[in-house]
Amino acid sequence: MKFFADTAQVEDIKELNDYGLLDGVTTNPSLVAKAGGDFLTTIQSICQIVSGPVSAEVAATDFEGMMREAAVLSAIAPNVVIKVPLTLPGLQACRALRAKQIDVNVTLCFSANQALLAAKAGATFVSPFIGRLDDINLDGMQLIHDIRLIFDNYDFDTQILAASIRQPNHVSDAALAGADAVTIPPNVIRALANHPLTQKGLETFLKDWADSGQTI
Ligand code: E4P
Repeated sequence: MKFFADTAQVEDIKELNDYGLLDGVTTNPSLVAKAGGDFLTTIQSICQIVSGPVSAEVAATDFEGMMREAAVLSAIAPNVVIKVPLTLPGLQACRALRAKQIDVNVTLCFSANQALLAAKAGATFVSPFIGRLDDINLDGMQLIHDIRLIFDNYDFDTQILAASIRQPNHVSDAALAGADAVTIPPNVIRALANHPLTQKGLETFLKDWADSGQTI
């Protein structure tokens, strides 16, 4: 399972990349606005840190505008993945970009039918939003299960990129559901490593080691 950092904060990306935990990065307009820097410069900085896919989202909503913005974003680095919304013009742009061998992440997916359309448009990734479905009392994780079954039924190559992750359990549940990748906020990635028994065990080992007087 691929791990992507769901952030535009360059310092967080550097830290997580140094741990060897990152396969890529996803950004969106809200994350870029939160990070505060210039969009194109931020994507360029991220691509200098991470060699895997870096999703950069178009802001246009019409086909021509998306294609124009995609050309600018694709020119930044070969690992830029163009993120387009799951709308009919977005699917049209997805098909056209894939014909040019440009990777595409179709975002804002909230249903199995939408995911099916993304796969039929040849998307590299489709991003179902788990947390936002949970927020409105629907079952985000069931959507990952449904998409996995549909894609396997028809041998679609489109990778399921579980998004809108809010908590550590979302990551393991997405892995159990067969998601190909998961994009995770930095604080949640760090939390994956936490376990009180790990901390307690380490404290005991360190105390016993110090008491033994041994050194390495
Ligand atoms: C990533 O591609 C999505 O834009 C992101 O996961 C959305 O997360 P949110 O629902 O927490 O904003």
